[in-house]
Amino acid sequence: MTEMTEQAPVTQATATKVAALPDAQTVTSVQHYTDRLFAFRVTRPQSLRFRSGEFVMIGLMGDNGKPLLRAYSIASPSWDEELEFYSIKVPDGPLTSKLQHIQPGDEIILRPKPVGTLVHDALLPGKRIYFFSTGTGFAPFASLLRDPQTYEDYDEVIITHTCREVAELTYGRDLIESIRNDELLQELIGEENLAKLRYYPTTTREESPKMGRITTLIENGELFADLGVPPLNPEHDRAMICGSLAFNIDVKALLEQAGLREGANSEPKEFVVEKAFVGDGI
Ligand SMILES: Cc1cc2nc3c(=O)[nH]c(=O)nc-3n(C[C@H](O)[C@H](O)[C@H](O)COP(=O)(O)OP(=O)(O)OC[C@H]3O[C@@H](n4cnc5c(N)ncnc54)[C@H](O)[C@@H]3O)c2cc1C
Ligand SMILES: NC(=O)c1ccc[n+]([C@@H]2O[C@H](COP(=O)([O-])OP(=O)(O)OC[C@H]3O[C@@H](n4cnc5c(N)ncnc54)[C@H](OP(=O)(O)O)[C@@H]3O)[C@@H](O)[C@H]2O)c1
Repeated sequence: MTEMTEQAPVTQATATKVAALPDAQTVTSVQHYTDRLFAFRVTRPQSLRFRSGEFVMIGLMGDNGKPLLRAYSIASPSWDEELEFYSIKVPDGPLTSKLQHIQPGDEIILRPKPVGTLVHDALLPGKRIYFFSTGTGFAPFASLLRDPQTYEDYDEVIITHTCREVAELTYGRDLIESIRNDELLQELIGEENLAKLRYYPTTTREESPKMGRITTLIENGELFADLGVPPLNPEHDRAMICGSLAFNIDVKALLEQAGLREGANSEPKEFVVEKAFVGDGI
């Protein structure tokens, strides 16, 4: 493949070739879940090191010839030889209206500069970790749930995922199933460690076994009763939050009410937050 950077002058020779994308990676698989959700895997740059839970900028070449990039959580764990992403399809979204049509063999742009707050380093040691997510906010946790460190650091690992409809839970449900049944993951994480994993999916607009916003289920105590765990407590509980801005604000308030404090890479505390997307007008 011809290497070509963004700054490289386009000579007559290169202009006649199929333009190679800067920081190009090749799509290896694509799976569609609903008309609004899909996941895909791409080759991983050999030099890319990241911490499970971080995000990178990915995208496609725009019609104006400039890269059109958006933040994406890496959904695969740091030990995986490929990179996985879990994506929304926004009908008129500048990137995802096109990205949703990628096929194996196509190229995407991937800037190899991972960053983010949803990392183990940003939390103080604890006994129980909660991952609170809605929609594509599940993505960073798909990475952390496949990272052995998550299970080494905690006695209990609780992932909550709330979506409007049942079909929107499929990516997360399949992932949890693969963690529990995949031989490689069992070997890597260990059967005893996998027993620590608790999955708590809920829906808000379509009937399912557990309904309701997670904020409501925290407030009325159902989450803790269902899981057989004590209410939130800053001594033992740690949390990571990833969803819409409104979701993040509401969960954060409940955690703070319980005495947990927001941490950062530079100052680890009891919980961390990251937006799953930047909403309209924000
Ligand atoms: C730190 C960070 C990590 C992110 N990680 C992911 C990820 O792993 N997967 C992913 O699909 N997106 C993720 N996003 C959102 C992503 O950057 C883009 O916004 C998304 O791909 C849509 O791009 P677009 O150009 O098609 O539309 P945009 O112009 O970016 O968005 C248009 C509108 O669509 C809505 N929207 C955008 N993204 C989402 C979403 N994920 N879920 C629900 N509504 C959305 C918002 O209302 C937004 O205003 C992340 C954003 C941030 C800030
Ligand atoms: N077919 C479509 O065109 C379609 C379908 C769905 C969404 N959308 C649009 O896409 C955008 C994102 O939709 P989304 O479903 O991914 O995300 P979302 O609207 O944030 O909802 C995801 C889940 O989070 C819950 N939730 C939202 N705010 C919360 C809060 N403050 N506290 C606790 N839980 C909260 C929702 O419950 P509630 O159901 O109670 O809000 C829902 O179960 C929205 O702007 C929406 O308008 C379009």
